[in-house]
Amino acid sequence: MRCSHRRAAFLTALIAAVAVAAAAQDEVFAFIPDGGRTLLETARAERLPEGLEGAIASQEGDAETWRGRLEAAQADAPALAALDAWQTDTLAHYLAANAPLAAGELPRDGRDMALQLCQSCHIITVVVTQERTREAWLRTMNSPSHIEIATTPAEREALADYLVINAGIPIDQIPPELRAGGASY
Ligand code: HEC
Repeated sequence: MRCSHRRAAFLTALIAAVAVAAAAQDEVFAFIPDGGRTLLETARAERLPEGLEGAIASQEGDAETWRGRLEAAQADAPALAALDAWQTDTLAHYLAANAPLAAGELPRDGRDMALQLCQSCHIITVVVTQERTREAWLRTMNSPSHIEIATTPAEREALADYLVINAGIPIDQIPPELRAGGASY
């Protein structure tokens, strides 16, 4: 009895500790700009115009096309009007890569991929402080050190598009614990 009680208490404490660690992790990475998945979820929380939702559910388009659709919807969607140019661009590229979007869970965005895939060999700082062209990002991701990372070619392009817009973060905006001695390769 006592024993299983203690085990339950231990498990509860462990789960709480893991949750706290996960939340602290999220906070450490808060300086990395939102990707398209989060931007879309946030905008949807205030409801998007039906025409735009219809397009998201049924249309393809390049980033330019989606930027136009997003800007056209701004008048009826304060959440879209509130986005800055980088965020609109990030969302436009996300939709270009992923629309038409089926109902349900949204596909991972560039930020999700960077956090999931780019920290096991070096810290994220190596990635998010680089300012590069799309071609340069794709070259890095197709280099021998990176080619085995589990992504489809389309996901690499989506990650590259996210990084073109959102990486190049100045070092003084990087949390101190992520600054020095980051590369372990
Ligand atoms: C399997 C280990 C591994 C993973 C996972 C990994 N990297 Fe790297 N990365 C390396 C190694 C090794 C180097 C240094 C040698 C080199 O440059 O290829 C490096 C260096 C880099 C550099 C700086 C040098 C360069 O090529 O410009 C960038 C930028 C980079 N990685 C981006 C990424 C991104 C983006 C991801 C996630 C998609 C990622 N890395 C995930 C192994 C990895």
